[in-house]
Amino acid sequence: MLVLGIESSCDETGIALYDSEAGLLSHTLHSQVAMHAEYGGVVPELASRDHIRRVVPLLRETLAQGNRSLDDVDAVAYTRGPGLAGALLVGCAFAEALALAIDKPTMPVHHLEGHLLSPLLSATPPSFPFVALLVSGGHTQLMRVTGVGEYELLGETLDDAAGEAFDKSAKLLGLPYPGGALLSKLAETGTPGVYELPRPMLHSGDLSFSFSGLKTAVLTLVREHADDMSDTFKADAARAFQEAIVEVLVKKSLKAMKQTGLKQLVVAGGVGANKQLRTTLNDEARRKRFQVYYPELEFCTDNGAMIALAGCLRLQAGTPAKPAGAFAIQPRWPLMEMSAGAK
Ligand code: KG4
Ligand code: ZN
Repeated sequence: MLVLGIESSCDETGIALYDSEAGLLSHTLHSQVAMHAEYGGVVPELASRDHIRRVVPLLRETLAQGNRSLDDVDAVAYTRGPGLAGALLVGCAFAEALALAIDKPTMPVHHLEGHLLSPLLSATPPSFPFVALLVSGGHTQLMRVTGVGEYELLGETLDDAAGEAFDKSAKLLGLPYPGGALLSKLAETGTPGVYELPRPMLHSGDLSFSFSGLKTAVLTLVREHADDMSDTFKADAARAFQEAIVEVLVKKSLKAMKQTGLKQLVVAGGVGANKQLRTTLNDEARRKRFQVYYPELEFCTDNGAMIALAGCLRLQAGTPAKPAGAFAIQPRWPLMEMSAGAK
């Protein structure tokens, strides 16, 4: 079965071909980062218009790279939500119209399910069941994943997501959009221990997170150093922020491993690209004798490959494909609604 996947939930247009036998055949991506950088963040209307511009050329390129034609496609998967409404509408309208034209069904995909399953694209994928730490720009969740569509929420953030905390702290330190990755680069040059920032909810006894206080602590630190925003200060502050957030993410993940008794941890979402998070988790996994899996770096952030994969796995798991032609997006959509046990 050959599935075409289309991602357009935010500021990346991604298209991919995933074959149930041969795996990922091809994928292309256009990032809008340069376009939004001028405005210091994603401008939704510009994002939608750019998706419109990119989607056809990217589709052609994906088909050419995969050496396939539209006739070979069995189903068109696309991100139905969550995300920016206008951006989602582009992918949805395009996918539904294309499927109608080639007389094939569609498979609407939950963006976070795509992230969650993205480590399965690796050469050495995890097997079910596993604990998933989902850390993206909009979500921070720990989940027990028993199979495709079998998700149990173990804990999540009560306020800001981890990626959001990275981005907001980066902005406070004067870094340009997109801040998270830049902050983490800067942190690598900083000295640990110069500043001490709070580890919110580290000892809450449950698997909940809260990061808005950490962001406020960065704001306070920046205000205290308003007269001395030197490169050294910024690097040390970035380091302090990263130390704090990584410690919380790692300790809560360890708690989830202990609580579930599972031996595999999957880290997915943009923050999963963070080097310090990976190094610390790898060290702990060696010590505690469990395995950690990450998506390939290029599949940590938004991409079409994870959407094609999730669509294909859903079809294989028996989720019925949809007749093409009906528009429906879901800008707000809790992942738990995708779980088999959900009402
Ligand atoms: O998963 P993703 O591409 O988009 C969402 O679905 O939200 O994640 C984007 C988030 C952003 O908040 C970005 O700052 C963060 O991932 N991010 C990072 C790194 N690379 C991307 N955060 C920390 N360290 C990184 N290296
Ligand atoms: Zn994402």
